[in-house]
Amino acid sequence: MLSKKVQEILNEQIKIEAESSQVYLAMASWAEIQPGIDNVTSFFYQHSEEERQHMLKLIHFVNERGGFATIPALSQPQLTFPSIKHAFDALLKHEVFVSESINKCIDVALAEKDYATHNFLQWYVAEQIEEEALARTMNDKLELIGDDKSGMYMFDRDILSIGMNVADKK
Ligand code: FEO
Repeated sequence: MLSKKVQEILNEQIKIEAESSQVYLAMASWAEIQPGIDNVTSFFYQHSEEERQHMLKLIHFVNERGGFATIPALSQPQLTFPSIKHAFDALLKHEVFVSESINKCIDVALAEKDYATHNFLQWYVAEQIEEEALARTMNDKLELIGDDKSGMYMFDRDILSIGMNVADKK
């Protein structure tokens, strides 16, 4: 059975994962109307879908442990970006924020001696390491590319395999 404090913090995390999905969905929709970045667009759509899975995993956990997962209202995400680099910068900052919020959940679980929730959250800790690494890799590449159009062409060509390579190193 979840304590009130654990249930509250996990419900906050459900909202954060849902908003993450919206944040990346907005990036995907913006990218879709930019010329020549079809794979970047797919990357954002896929990432949005992954965040929805993160949210669902939490919802099921809360409900299975005798709590009640409450589906939250969501805030409006950023809709447009000055450049692809700006979008990926925002993605990295957002993932760092998510990692911090997962750490807060763990702090509460430990304070409440809820070792099952602590154990469950380790999956999110590992996921955040991977997602931050991926976002840093993308930002490093975009930094190198700068305004070089052929570099951007290759970035778009390779982005889906960059994601897989970082995941493999986990
Ligand atoms: Fe579910 Fe990218 O944090």
